Amino acid sequence: MSSSACRIVVLISGRGSNMQTIVNTVRDRGLPATISAVIANKPDAGGLEWARQRGVPTAVVPHRDYDSREAFDAALADAIEQYQPHYVLLAGFMRVLTPAFVERFNGRLINIHPSLLPAFPGLHTHQQALAMGVQWHGCTVHFVTPVLDHGPIVAQGVVPVLADDTPEDLAARVLQVEHRIYADVTGWLAEGRVTLDAMQRVQVAGVSSRSFVLTPDGVTSSERSS
Ligand code: GRF
Repeated sequence: MSSSACRIVVLISGRGSNMQTIVNTVRDRGLPATISAVIANKPDAGGLEWARQRGVPTAVVPHRDYDSREAFDAALADAIEQYQPHYVLLAGFMRVLTPAFVERFNGRLINIHPSLLPAFPGLHTHQQALAMGVQWHGCTVHFVTPVLDHGPIVAQGVVPVLADDTPEDLAARVLQVEHRIYADVTGWLAEGRVTLDAMQRVQVAGVSSRSFVLTPDGVTSSERSS
């Protein structure tokens, strides 16, 4: 991927704190990437205004305007294709995508999910984790496949579950790790270091470990120089 060539489109549904991290990371780390657009399925998604204020192009494809999931996904895909992105990053995008959409962006579509997949796919992951009594919880950045919350894992981050945690406590703790891992993954993608091997597992050139842990001192990566 040549310099400045990595075009990224980010999809959001709400406040967009992960999107903000992605935008800031490209700027702060001077990555060879451009955030071509932030696209939302809700006109009132809070992250849209944040992006506009920073000069990032925005678009809205309101899912309520479409009769079917297929029609919405087709319109969304057309909106995305205008930017010819190398990667489409889902950042709190709360729509289930059709197989046709996923196929169209095969190998370019990345999601962040607030659990340690394959545990707890779907919604309400923090409630699911508390109900199950797990002692570690976290988040996963993965390639999107037609199976919901499934697909080759790019990075994972873990946080401890504490005795008195509410779902909100846990969500806030996980979010700290989400931001760190989506920042690092954005860097790897921008630098063209991410590939899939013959077993459909992710390889990241020059990165020995893609695991992150929230400690009292912040989020640490267990990467050792390879
Ligand atoms: C994040 O926890 C993300 O993993 C989940 O929804 C939340 C979105 O947060 N899918 P934000 O919009 O990125 O702040």
